[in-house]
Amino acid sequence: MKLLLTVAQIFLLGLPLAAGKANTDIEHVVVLMLENRAFDHMLGYLTNINSDITGCTPESCSNPIDPTDPGSPLVNLTYDAVYQQSDPCHSISCTTEQVFGYDDSGDATASMTGFIKSYADRTGNTTYAPKIMESFHPSHVPAIYNISQEFAIFDAWHASVPGPTMVNRAYAASATSHGMGTNNPKMEGFGLPQKTMFEQLLDMGLDFKVYFQQFPSVLQHKPMRKPKILPKYHLLDKLFDDLENGDMPEFSWVEPGYFDGVIAGKHVFQATDQHPDHDVSAGDDLIRRIYNAVRASPLWEKTALVITYDEHGGFFDHVPPPSAPNPDGLNSTDDPFDFTRLGVRIPTIIASPLIPKGTVVKSPASGGYEHSSIVSTVVHKLFSAEKGYEEPTFLTKRDEWAATFESVFSLSEPRKDCPTEAPEVVSHRVQFPHVLPKLDGKMPITHLQQEIIDIASMLETEICQSDTEVLLGDKEMKEEGEALEWILNRVESCLGIKVIE
Ligand SMILES: *[C@@H]1O[C@H](CO)[C@@H](O)[C@H](O)[C@H]1NC(C)=O
Ligand SMILES: *[C@@H]1O[C@H](CO)[C@@H](O)[C@H](O)[C@H]1NC(C)=O
Ligand SMILES: *[C@@H]1O[C@H](CO)[C@@H](O)[C@H](O)[C@H]1NC(C)=O
Ligand SMILES: *[C@@H]1O[C@H](CO)[C@@H](O)[C@H](O)[C@H]1NC(C)=O
Repeated sequence: MKLLLTVAQIFLLGLPLAAGKANTDIEHVVVLMLENRAFDHMLGYLTNINSDITGCTPESCSNPIDPTDPGSPLVNLTYDAVYQQSDPCHSISCTTEQVFGYDDSGDATASMTGFIKSYADRTGNTTYAPKIMESFHPSHVPAIYNISQEFAIFDAWHASVPGPTMVNRAYAASATSHGMGTNNPKMEGFGLPQKTMFEQLLDMGLDFKVYFQQFPSVLQHKPMRKPKILPKYHLLDKLFDDLENGDMPEFSWVEPGYFDGVIAGKHVFQATDQHPDHDVSAGDDLIRRIYNAVRASPLWEKTALVITYDEHGGFFDHVPPPSAPNPDGLNSTDDPFDFTRLGVRIPTIIASPLIPKGTVVKSPASGGYEHSSIVSTVVHKLFSAEKGYEEPTFLTKRDEWAATFESVFSLSEPRKDCPTEAPEVVSHRVQFPHVLPKLDGKMPITHLQQEIIDIASMLETEICQSDTEVLLGDKEMKEEGEALEWILNRVESCLGIKVIE
């Protein structure tokens, strides 16, 4: 360990700090969860700017083409990432290959060497596979790089599960996926039954809103479809209004747009989720817009903006995932897993004027940082008995174990030097016109988009009370643009929210 610690780190190590007055000034938490990017893939470059951050350089990070062959040539990391065409596999089995480098002996160590081979095996495309080692240069995603240096960056935050999107999103909402290990259309469609942090917040007398651009995927949870919850869903524009008017709930969950599409030949939608094959700059611009709005809000001094990712999306990271407790005794059976290991490291950053500039949050002394840390911190620390709230019981063993981050808000007076705006983001379609395809909504739908179609189709029966049989026939959609149009119609008819005026 380095001998020189910043003030923030000393605080995080749990040593008493005279000036520290952690946490209680935060009254609003806004969480934006993006899609499918590993830490080294998105932010690995940061180690060049601050060597205290565990990132990656071309000299220090590589993967063999084939980890099972000791003579296999290495492919080193580059800072050339722009566009990833097909969706790299990141199911539990694929992530296991990537993390353990195809070593399936009982006592295998997480060598983080199987990323290239897994991509090649799963797609059959050996030429393209080394692109999995590409990492973003700060100039291509300026907003996230800027905010991660101005406030706090966690360099030891892992996905909750070494598996796909909806499983990890379930942990963010409820500290478990109720045994779901794959993106499982049946479970998501009928609705995951377990209690969520959203109900805990209501039980405590706190309020929340879900802001979305196209579809709120938290509807995979059955309790999130109750009539009393439906008024909590709003379009993203409402977030900007609420911030400007200083009228925010205690907790805001923000969902990016999951589809590219052009509707009726004129309404152009660009996905902001950063999920491959989408333009990553559109998600960076979403980060910029939300930061700028939070920063300009009269509530800025009392607000924490958390920006995180659901999972690694099959992209490279070099840090072995730690173990963690199974949340509720349930195992995944279709892609077998017992939920005792975290997923690959992903970027998480928090902006607030109560955080010292340049804070780096390392591995906690006990527990681990993963998506259940959000509920653990918000419900059990930020809104605490000290503030007069009755602490609920833990949702599962996982949120009980997860490390909390209230101590990052260590300043007793809000900083006055926080940037009023994050840097402008130039669209990658403009910067690299020959690398990205035309934005026409004609790309084939991804696994995640299919999940969203499945959740949306079940809303018909549960909320609009129409005939599911008819709808299941509708699900055979091929292109993301047509799927988007179908989903926006469901959002209008079942949630009463009109996305296209
Ligand atoms: C590639 O990375 C390995 C470590 O993984 C390192 O030993 C090697 O020197 C690097 N090669 C280059 C050309 O930087
Ligand atoms: C590999 O993927 C790239 C990018 O999608 C594509 O241009 C190329 O044709 C593919 N090659 C093979 C052999 O499939
Ligand atoms: C889940 O898997 C673990 C490890 O293999 C096993 O010990 C446990 O009995 C399983 N639980 C259930 C409910 O099957
Ligand atoms: C972040 O961006 C702002 C405005 O563009 C700039 O003033 C500030 O210096 C940047 N901070 C870092 C660490 O790059």
